Amino acid sequence: MAQIIKAVRGTRDILPPDTALWQHVEQACREVFHRYNFHEIRTPVFEDTQLFARGVGEETDIVSKEMFTWEDRPRAQSEKAQSLTLRPENTAGVVRAYIEHKMGETGKLQKLYYMGPQFRRERPQKGRYRQFYQIGAEALGPPSAGSESPARDAEIIAMLAHLLREVGIKQWTLQLNSVGCAEDRARYGQALREALAGVKDKMCGDCQRRAETNPLRVLDCKVPEDQPIIDALPKISAYLDEPCREHFNQVKKILNHVDIRYEINERMVRGLDYYTRTTFEFTHGGLGAQSALLGGGRYDGLSEALGGPKAPGIGFALGLDRFVLALQSEETVGIPDLNPVVYVAPLGQGMNAEAAVIARDLRKHAIATELGDETFKIKKSFEAAERAGAKYILFVGENEAATGQFGLKHLKSGEQVTVKREELVEKLRGAKPAAD
Ligand code: HAM
Repeated sequence: MAQIIKAVRGTRDILPPDTALWQHVEQACREVFHRYNFHEIRTPVFEDTQLFARGVGEETDIVSKEMFTWEDRPRAQSEKAQSLTLRPENTAGVVRAYIEHKMGETGKLQKLYYMGPQFRRERPQKGRYRQFYQIGAEALGPPSAGSESPARDAEIIAMLAHLLREVGIKQWTLQLNSVGCAEDRARYGQALREALAGVKDKMCGDCQRRAETNPLRVLDCKVPEDQPIIDALPKISAYLDEPCREHFNQVKKILNHVDIRYEINERMVRGLDYYTRTTFEFTHGGLGAQSALLGGGRYDGLSEALGGPKAPGIGFALGLDRFVLALQSEETVGIPDLNPVVYVAPLGQGMNAEAAVIARDLRKHAIATELGDETFKIKKSFEAAERAGAKYILFVGENEAATGQFGLKHLKSGEQVTVKREELVEKLRGAKPAAD
């Protein structure tokens, strides 16, 4: 027998009925984004490797260890092979598109959202996959469009609280920080470097390296023995300049006003180098080790780092895989029922055609319908209707076709009524698919 081929490690299939839950989250996101005037952007799944090296940062885990990168075949012998990478995140791609399509020249704030797969070669575990799905949004534009305003930061965070409510996730915590501007980060980085000089020998290999190359990344370390050392390091808040401090105060003030609770977490510098000023994460208790439901922040210098115009921005990305796990752990929302309302059972030879007409008419009226086969005996039709999760079964035999009167049976209660052909739609339209 031929060997079975399985999905690659770190990738998985999402099957029904779980896909209904995925659609539920996607739909809620689209609706909420629309209310906040965000519009969809779709960028390619792979990009020039340089985009991530320059955008996300060479020293980040994502770029230094986790990217799926390959050399493309050169088009001509004289050409150099281009290095390509499956996107590990979508912000860099959105900003590249913003620059490439001169979206800043419209003078307006661009509010863009995306949904799609991202790829990181991480060690797979619950909530962490090599192909995972993000839904994210970015608000960026020229400073004259208000893109630097703390109102934008607070609006995005408020939108997320709204979104979580709509989706049905209740047990979340918001962690908030400000990592300041590039100058603050440079001064803070220097302070960290000095503080680390005396203690780094007692730390893990990654921290020892980062203490030299990118000391802020030390704050991301999860090694338990390193935690007391990291907790004693200088704090970012002491290094914010006046405009950054005031910006952060304004963000907090608006959040307080709109009743959004948050915790300040000064160690949250996030795993990507483009962040400036506000950073945030929403975590969830039901997710285990991979507790970050979503993360985001401001990236005021990213466009310029990618060769574009000044275009401050702020955004986030949520892990769709983790949203679904969080929903399942809360048990507050059942999987939305996408089962058919009715199973149309042709009864006897030659009845497939008549049943097809009835099924077509019901479906035209937006009634989810499953269609059987005339070779099925009554018992088998009942079994098939049960398996399909239908609420009703409708028999279409010669007699029914001739009289225009159909037997409609509620599968759970066993109650049967006779319904005229022209009243079928009306009778079934009110019936929700959920088994009641
Ligand atoms: P990130 O924190 O790297 O940020 O990812 C955002 C979210 O994606 C995480 O909170 C998590 O829910 C999910 N995620 C990340 N890696 C995995 C994985 N291996 N498996 C499953 N889920 C995962 C960003 O990607 C930024 N681009 C967010 C952003 C947008 N910042 C500003 N704008």
